[in-house]
Amino acid sequence: MPKPSVIVIGAGAAALSLIASLPEGCSVRLLTKASVRSGNSMLAQGGIAAVHLPQDSVASHIEDTLTAGDGHTDVAVVADLLAEGSAYVHRLAENGFPFDRDAQQQIRLGLEGAHSFNRIFHAGGDATGRILTEHLLASIPGDVSILEHTHVLKLIVEKGRCTGVIARHEGKLATFHADSVIIASGGCGSLYANHSGDAGITGDGLMLAYEAGAELCDLEFMQFHPTLLVKKGTTYGLISEAVRGEGGVLRDESGLAIMDGKHPLGDLAPRDIVARAIHEQIQSGHDVHLDIRDCANFTERFPTITGILNKAGIELEAQKIPVVPGMHFMMGGIKVDTHGCTAVPGLYAIGEAACTGLHGANRLASNSLLEALVLGQRAARHGFDHSLRNGAISREPDLSSDSVSNESSDPHDLLTCNSDAPGSTPTIGNLAWTVPHTTLPELQRQMSRHASIVRHAEGLKQLEHWLNDLPSEEVPLSDLTREQAELARLWQLARLVVASALLRTESRGAHYRADYPTRLDSQWSGRTVTHIRSTAP
Ligand code: SIN
Repeated sequence: MPKPSVIVIGAGAAALSLIASLPEGCSVRLLTKASVRSGNSMLAQGGIAAVHLPQDSVASHIEDTLTAGDGHTDVAVVADLLAEGSAYVHRLAENGFPFDRDAQQQIRLGLEGAHSFNRIFHAGGDATGRILTEHLLASIPGDVSILEHTHVLKLIVEKGRCTGVIARHEGKLATFHADSVIIASGGCGSLYANHSGDAGITGDGLMLAYEAGAELCDLEFMQFHPTLLVKKGTTYGLISEAVRGEGGVLRDESGLAIMDGKHPLGDLAPRDIVARAIHEQIQSGHDVHLDIRDCANFTERFPTITGILNKAGIELEAQKIPVVPGMHFMMGGIKVDTHGCTAVPGLYAIGEAACTGLHGANRLASNSLLEALVLGQRAARHGFDHSLRNGAISREPDLSSDSVSNESSDPHDLLTCNSDAPGSTPTIGNLAWTVPHTTLPELQRQMSRHASIVRHAEGLKQLEHWLNDLPSEEVPLSDLTREQAELARLWQLARLVVASALLRTESRGAHYRADYPTRLDSQWSGRTVTHIRSTAP
C-alpha cells in the first residue's frame, strides 16, 4: 500500500506542529518560498496564552477572548480550542520546553492586553517565537523532505479534490502530488506599509485556496498592533504588548497618559482600542511614546526589543520608545472547521492563513501561537490519523455557521488571474497571471491610507477604483518572477479585503467605519464570506 502523502506549504509554528504530530509512515514534503527560519513565527515576541495561576480558569480565558473579539467569535470554537491549548502548553512545559522561570523554578507569566490574569508563557524573555520554532524544527522526523526557496503558485484540483501543487523549484516549474495539501503560509502583513512581520508574508495561501474554490471569510478584520517602532519611514520591529504588561505607559509629547479615561483597562485595553487611540493622536499632530520608566530589568526581560532599539539608534537611557500602530495579524482567512478542513476536500488550512472563528473581530493577545499549535496538531491527528490510514480522506468538513455572503460585488469578477476554473486540472503551459502595473510601496500606501485603522465608504470606494483601474499585463507562469507573483497576489487580495470592508456597514473590533461608528448586532451577526461562485463539477 502506498504511504499516505502530505504537502505542507509554509514553515511556521502551525506547519511544524502539524508535521511533529503526523502519524509515523507518512510521506511529508514541506515547501517554503524562503528558508525555514524566515516567517512570522520566528518574530513572535509576546508568547503563548494559557491558564496557569490557581485563581485563573479556562472560563476566564474564554471570557477575555470573547470580549476582545467584540461579539464576533464563535463561542463553541473558543471553548474547544482554548481548553486543548492549555493542555498543549502544559505538556510543552512538562516536556522541557524552556519557558522562562523565576529563581524558584516557577513559570514566569506575563500580562498582555485584555487578559484578566497573567497567563502569557514566554521564552528567552521576548523571543518565544524563535525558541518555539527551533524547538519544533528539532523535533520533526529526519525523513521529512524540506524544499526551501520553493514557491507554490497553484493548487491542483482534480474532480473537486486538492491533489497537489505547481511550484517554482530550483528555477523551474514543477508539480508535486499528495493525498492532502496543507496551507500554513501565514497572513498578509505586506499589504500595508508598516507591519510587524516578515516581508515575504504576502497572502499567497489565501489566494491559492480561493482560486481552488475554498471560502475566505472575515477579510475586513485586520489587527493593527498599537506599538511598532518606525523611524524615518523604516519599520524596525514590534514593541511587544508585554512591555505595557510590565508597566509601560503610552504618553503624548507633553507626558499625558493617552489611555487615561479611554477604557477601564487603560494601556492594557484590547488592541483595536489602543491602536485607534494612538492613531487619533497621530492624526491630530501628536507623537506617542512608550514610557518604560516603570519596567524593571528591561534589557533582561526584553532582549529582542533591546536589540531593535539599538538598531534604530534609540537610547535606552531616555526610557521613551516612539511608537505607531502597524499591521500585525489578520483575523479572517481561509474558512476552516476546528480540524483545519476547508470546503475543498484534501485541502487544509492552519495558523494565520486559516479562520476558525477563534479570534472574532479582534484577536486576544498571544492566542495566535496557541491556535497555530493546536490546529496543526488537530489537522494532523484527526484528519490524517483517521483518514489516511484508511486510504483517501472521506471526511466532509463541518463549516456550518451564520454567514453573510459577499454579495455587494461579484468576487469572481474581482479575480482576474487568468487561470483554470476551480476543479479543473491545470496545464502548466497554459497558465498566465495578470500582474498589475504598480509598485509594492504604492499598493501598501493606498491600503494604509484607505483600508487600515479607520475606514469610510468614500476612501474605500476611491481605493476600489484605484485597484480595479490599474493597468496590467499577462505574464506566463514560466516567466513570472517572485516579486511579480507577490505583487499580483497582494493586489488580488486587496480587492477582496476592500470589498469585505465596504460590505460591513458597522464598526466592530478592528473594523472601524467612521461612517458607521457603532456595532449593529441586529444586522451583523454573521461572517462575511468571499468565494468564487463556481460552476465547476
Ligand atoms: C506582542 O508581543 O505584543 C504580540 C503578541 C501577539 O500578537 O499576540
